[in-house]
Amino acid sequence: MSSKSLRVLTGITTSGTPHLGNYVGAIRPTVRASKLPEVESFYFLADYHALIKVGEPARVQRSTLEIAATWLACGLDPEQVTFYRQSDIPEIPELTWLLTCVTGKGLLNRAHAYKAAVDKNNAASEEPDAGVTAGLFMYPVLMAADILMFNAHRVPVGRDQIQHIEMARDIAASFNHLYGDHFTLPEAAIEDHVATLPGLDGRKMSKSYDNTIPLFVPQAQLRKLIMGILTDSRAPGEPKATEGSALFQLYQAFASADETAALAKAYADGIAWADAKHLLLERIEREVAPLRTVYDELMQDPAKIERVLKRGAEKARAIATPFTARLRHAVGLRSLQSATESPGKGAKAARSVMPSFKQFRQADGRFAFKLLDARGELLLESLSFESPKEAAGWIGRLQRGEVPADIQQAPWTLHRPLAEVTTALAQFSSSEN
Ligand code: TRP
Repeated sequence: MSSKSLRVLTGITTSGTPHLGNYVGAIRPTVRASKLPEVESFYFLADYHALIKVGEPARVQRSTLEIAATWLACGLDPEQVTFYRQSDIPEIPELTWLLTCVTGKGLLNRAHAYKAAVDKNNAASEEPDAGVTAGLFMYPVLMAADILMFNAHRVPVGRDQIQHIEMARDIAASFNHLYGDHFTLPEAAIEDHVATLPGLDGRKMSKSYDNTIPLFVPQAQLRKLIMGILTDSRAPGEPKATEGSALFQLYQAFASADETAALAKAYADGIAWADAKHLLLERIEREVAPLRTVYDELMQDPAKIERVLKRGAEKARAIATPFTARLRHAVGLRSLQSATESPGKGAKAARSVMPSFKQFRQADGRFAFKLLDARGELLLESLSFESPKEAAGWIGRLQRGEVPADIQQAPWTLHRPLAEVTTALAQFSSSEN
């Protein structure tokens, strides 16, 4: 282990072209953070993840090149950080399988992206899983493998990814519970203070709204895009509101506090929209033009980027290869010559990776049950019932996800927050088909 104590890791799906929103929201803050002396950073191009959304080989390749060139042009130093391409690390899909085997299917059923696909199908009266690949379903496990392989402590992501980090924690805990303490439980780091940038139409800049300004378009095209930013119809000389002005927000993301204050004053003084747009163009160019020069050079030399990534993969595999060997041994994928233990020995052998119900008879002769989570923690304890059949009936209903609408009326007491209990129960209701 190196002297740096905090491991930070994040991946970028290689399915598009970086835009100003990516730059301000992720690339710029991440490159800055990577220069802090006390952190050990891992950045990778998530090209296996790209295959889930993109079915065009040329686009995956092109995006991988563009994103790699972008990060390097923006100042990521591959000597200082570990910068690699996911698909150069064969240990990642291998770990994905080991993790798959300790992941409740019900956990994956609850993933937002998968649920959204199912909801959409239901709304359209389609089969629930129509058009859903197993890749989409498994997305969180692949992502958990990315994170757990390097025992990252902190994972900077957007809000939409928080659930995936929580799932990586759950999956890590299940594995640790069954096979011993191998994985660090990661935490999401949300960049709250960085602005979400508006796009050309004032909505959040996003590929799905088709309102983006690509980071490294040629200057002439950048000018054209900026001139097309939506503004209101106030004429030159009329005072303008900074509030709700996409142009103003974009400017602010690049400008100093003084420059921003000066533009606010110009708005109040009735600056013409065309002039304000010129100021924005100039301000963005001041920061982006030197980076674009480096980017354009890199794009002319893909072999150089390939070398950088291969070198990064070597660094990453120096960790991943021995760690995978340890994990293989832990789960029992071992040389037959190595000393064997008898199966079932050892406290961990019988532990389950699923939550479980325990039905029992009380001292007074009545029947009751408990629900324990995968780690054996008590989640819920029932009141007592006259007959074992009655207790079993409630267990069955819970396993099917039939929780009484009024939880107060239910014949049990919760020992953990309801959300945690329903999460555990979801793992049963998923296994019926
Ligand atoms: N799912 C992430 C996204 O779309 C990309 C990603 C893949 C990632 N693997 C990761 C992010 C591991 C952080 C850690 O934004």
